[in-house]
Amino acid sequence: MLVAAVVMLISSCALIMKVNNVVPDEYMDEIYHADQMQRYCAGNYSSWNPLITTPPGLYLASLAIILPASLLASDQLVV
Ligand SMILES: *[C@@H]1O[C@H](CO)[C@@H](O)[C@H](O)[C@H]1NC(C)=O
Repeated sequence: MLVAAVVMLISSCALIMKVNNVVPDEYMDEIYHADQMQRYCAGNYSSWNPLITTPPGLYLASLAIILPASLLASDQLVV
């Protein structure tokens, strides 16, 4: 198991280094996810960028953790 993890880590690093050599400039597919993430990080959980066509699975999953945590911290919650 450990050997497989080390092989996976090394091959992943090699692949990342190769991709970074071929594509040195930063790039982002579906740039509107950046806007959605900025809203999310600002605590604005009620707005959704309509350009995003996939269901908000990861946003909702992490919200299930963040929402109770922020309630426990009793900070201002913007929903
Ligand atoms: C959330 O974001 C949307 C879109 O940018 C904005 O219209 C709305 O006022 C925001 N809501 C809050 C509570 O910040």
